[in-house]
Amino acid sequence: MCGIVAFTGTADARSFLLAGLARLEYRGYDSAGIALVQPQAASQEAGSAGGTGAVLEVVRRKGKVASLVEAVEKSGVAGTCGIGHTRWATHGVPSEENAHPHCDCSGRIAVVHNGIIENYAHLKVELIEKGHVFASQTDTEVVAHLVEENYEAHAGDFTEAVRATVAQLSGSFALAILHANHPDTIIVTRNDSPLVIGSYEGGAIAASDTPALIDKTREISYIRDRDLAVLHSDGSIEFFDPAGEPFTPAIYHIEWSLEQAEKGGYPDFMLKEISEQPRVIRDTIANRFDRKTCALQFDELPLTDEELADIDRIYVVACGTSYHAGLIGKDLIENWARIPVEVDVASEFRYGNPIISTNTLVIAISQSGETADTLEAVRLARRAGAHVIALTNVMGSRITQEAQTVLNIKANIEIAVAATKSFLAQVALLTLLGLYLAQERLLLTGAQVREIYGEMKQLPGQIEQILSDTAAIEAAADACAEAQTALFIGRGVGATTCYEGALKLKEISYLHAEAFSAGEIKHGPIALIDPDAATPVVAVATQSSTRDKMLANIEEMKARGARIVAVATEGDERIRELADHVIYIPPTRECLSPITASVPLQLFARFIALARGCDVDQPRNLAKSVTVE
Ligand code: AGP
Repeated sequence: MCGIVAFTGTADARSFLLAGLARLEYRGYDSAGIALVQPQAASQEAGSAGGTGAVLEVVRRKGKVASLVEAVEKSGVAGTCGIGHTRWATHGVPSEENAHPHCDCSGRIAVVHNGIIENYAHLKVELIEKGHVFASQTDTEVVAHLVEENYEAHAGDFTEAVRATVAQLSGSFALAILHANHPDTIIVTRNDSPLVIGSYEGGAIAASDTPALIDKTREISYIRDRDLAVLHSDGSIEFFDPAGEPFTPAIYHIEWSLEQAEKGGYPDFMLKEISEQPRVIRDTIANRFDRKTCALQFDELPLTDEELADIDRIYVVACGTSYHAGLIGKDLIENWARIPVEVDVASEFRYGNPIISTNTLVIAISQSGETADTLEAVRLARRAGAHVIALTNVMGSRITQEAQTVLNIKANIEIAVAATKSFLAQVALLTLLGLYLAQERLLLTGAQVREIYGEMKQLPGQIEQILSDTAAIEAAADACAEAQTALFIGRGVGATTCYEGALKLKEISYLHAEAFSAGEIKHGPIALIDPDAATPVVAVATQSSTRDKMLANIEEMKARGARIVAVATEGDERIRELADHVIYIPPTRECLSPITASVPLQLFARFIALARGCDVDQPRNLAKSVTVE
């Protein structure tokens, strides 16, 4: 999950590359680097510059992009054609030697890469046998040496050399490749890794994701697996398919603005995105209920009434937070539409042997639309004949090109690595989908659907109320910040809310947290309560059919020395007698409580992470999109 950028034009490449890398840093941040073409005037060894007189200058640094910026400014390198990279290490430790760009033996070819070259070991042996000398432990470096080989074999045809190289690679890659003999040209390609391409009056550009180029152009193109795009300094771009045939790709317009990709005055992206949740819910549910027909509408879903009636099984496939959204969706869809729903982590589903027929509906959830395991799960489902619905936040992402139906969660760009607003948007959309399926299968009347939809329209205001007073959340967080471990307990949708709350806490504060169905606590986990440590137990105990059971579970934990942090419904005085900290939220229907109860848990995690000095936007070892297996 690295970030790559590429620029060739008349303007200064350096500023575009460094600004682009800073905006892609959420994709990986253990090292970074750029390579710039230095024209003849700057290069002393014209003779060694293959006739063009140009050479490449490479600057790389371990650590975040800020370290690279400082090094580049000190180096004084500049140029109008270059590539850049911010790394999330897969092969080779984070170091300057393993930082991208990587070069061939001559130093005249440079490559940046996002993904994993799965056959790199075999290729590396062959290249070493041919006399190539490697300088890094990375899989990426084989690409530079292969281009060197193929460039010679194709008599200096840069495009053909790259095309031949791509044909030799297996695995996932988004690549940007420079050659000093072609000082105005950059060739980019991809396979199972994201890449967006655009141009503007200053030149031609490419990047792993739209934040890197949004301030230059809103019109972007995507290429298919193993296509090539040849970027020229006059802003023109040539597109070739793997067979070398030229083609013209579709153009997509980026909807969101640069400021939506910036912090907007918030201390971190995570708080900004948590604070955007009222609008996100408003946008996600907007225009879904048709007053004239008194029915929910999902025009994106092309299934006929008969096909909808014939659905006899639903799989939900996803990873991480998206998987937790799926668990909540399961409860709601089964409760209303009475269709069996199985929720699988995509990495298990894709290697399992799921029971799929043409009556199976598969719902794939992915904020980025680029998660490798989820994409493979979609491909398996499609091959088996299922209808696949993709819930995603990134239109144009690969999942949107692989599923038959795409539902946009409309959360706008999410920069913080820890998912927040996209999770709430996923849950809201799954809630609507569950209602829709029940409506179409005549299990809920229009009046019933309208009532619940009406309550969903209250959610933005209820979230705003929670956000308006976070003192109780901060106090609870302060009391728990030094803990070594924390338990989360809930029942029904309260339990699945806890799964996500525990993930949020551990992924940004590194405090070990684990969620359990409250009824399970006595079957083992209660042994984790350490009275000396006053182990924090976060209990989602909002108004529900099992609230009394929850109170009993809380008492059991309290009696053994736990510190109880309860998320409860306003007006519940009984909980105040049991819990050390009570976080009240407005009353909602039980099925809607995951949306409101998740907000305090997001803030609880963020307050603890800040108290522990953690980087809430870019937690260690993580990346925003896991585009490798
Ligand atoms: C969530 O906070 C994490 N960033 C991670 O679990 C994420 O949800 C998971 O990697 C799935 O990503 P996706 O939704 O883009 O597929």
